[in-house]
Amino acid sequence: MFQLGEKLKFTLFGSSHGPYVGCILEGIPAGTPVDADLIMKYMTLRKPAAGIGTPRKEPDIPEIVSGIRDSEADGSPILIRIPNTNVRDSDYSLYEHTPRPGHADLPAAVKGLNCLGGGVFSGRMTSAVVAGGSIARQFLYGHGIDISAFTRSIGAVADPEQRGSEDARGSEAFATRACTGDLDRTMREEIMRASEDGDSIGGVTECMVSGLPIGFGGIWFEALDSELARAVFSIPACKGVEFGKGFSLAGMRGSQSNDQYCYRDGVRTMSNNLGGIVGGMSDGAPLLFRAVFKPTPSIAKPQHTVDLRTGADVGIRVSGRHDPCIVPRAAVVVESMAALVIADQIRRGF
Ligand SMILES: Cc1cc2nc3c(=O)[nH]c(=O)nc-3n(C[C@H](O)[C@H](O)[C@H](O)COP(=O)(O)O)c2cc1C
Repeated sequence: MFQLGEKLKFTLFGSSHGPYVGCILEGIPAGTPVDADLIMKYMTLRKPAAGIGTPRKEPDIPEIVSGIRDSEADGSPILIRIPNTNVRDSDYSLYEHTPRPGHADLPAAVKGLNCLGGGVFSGRMTSAVVAGGSIARQFLYGHGIDISAFTRSIGAVADPEQRGSEDARGSEAFATRACTGDLDRTMREEIMRASEDGDSIGGVTECMVSGLPIGFGGIWFEALDSELARAVFSIPACKGVEFGKGFSLAGMRGSQSNDQYCYRDGVRTMSNNLGGIVGGMSDGAPLLFRAVFKPTPSIAKPQHTVDLRTGADVGIRVSGRHDPCIVPRAAVVVESMAALVIADQIRRGF
């Protein structure tokens, strides 16, 4: 339920309002360099930015309990825990009986699961994904594999340009994870407009992976795209994943969509419509996929819900501390999920 991967096994634990969230990462080979500053860099990229993120502020300092010695993996399970320091249960007790539309409260209550603060469904869990993923990324550096994501769109504001890894890395300078200062400003305004209305807004994260050799990836249920899609879909609020031109392939002909080949210092594709994956394996082009994140469910606008105690229809306005838009924080989470999946496929010998 809370595990991903076979040879590089990632186990998630904790919950939003418990003492910790964290992860156990098994399968990182002994001797893999682990730079704590890099872990902190990625943790910081997940933090909410002033004005466009939740007012819940957490220091998000990961405590590495085991598995790393003298900045190297020692080959044993790596346990990382991240204390929850800023918990306010009172913000949430209402939603056990009057479930928030769009959040996991209703099915969780029916199943008897604790959903305080979003419980295990909270975006807070993704801090552990980033902590574990940031170690998987360092393992991938040793294989020449680099992962970078950026914000393709927020609401009606879309980045129209084709972007490469350099642009995506540049997005780390901007709170929205847009590729330019102008886009950052307009995306930020789009978020603020929704927020001022007591509402929220969604968008699209785009992720690129460079350095995968031709033929890398499993087959069928172990296909690289199948396993990536499964992991990325596990991120709360993700409602779609597409590779390459994705859903627009439906309107193309094969003569337009096929990535044709040529020899240029080895086999190369002449375009990248299929996202660098055919038959579940890399075709040598950069792997490219997008994930759509829905508007944050917790909004202050009046909505209809039910009171599970009385069986009555009631109104709800969600208070508490929430992100008006998840997308700016999602980029590093998507990168981390991709790192965990690809590192596992390497360990499995694909
Ligand atoms: C980084 C991140 C931050 C999130 N922040 C919030 C939030 O502040 N408020 C909220 O209602 N949902 C937030 N979510 C989304 C919910 O966790 C998610 O919508 C909910 O668990 C229901 O799952 P589903 O949307 O996948 O169906 C966040 C998700 C992520 C990835």
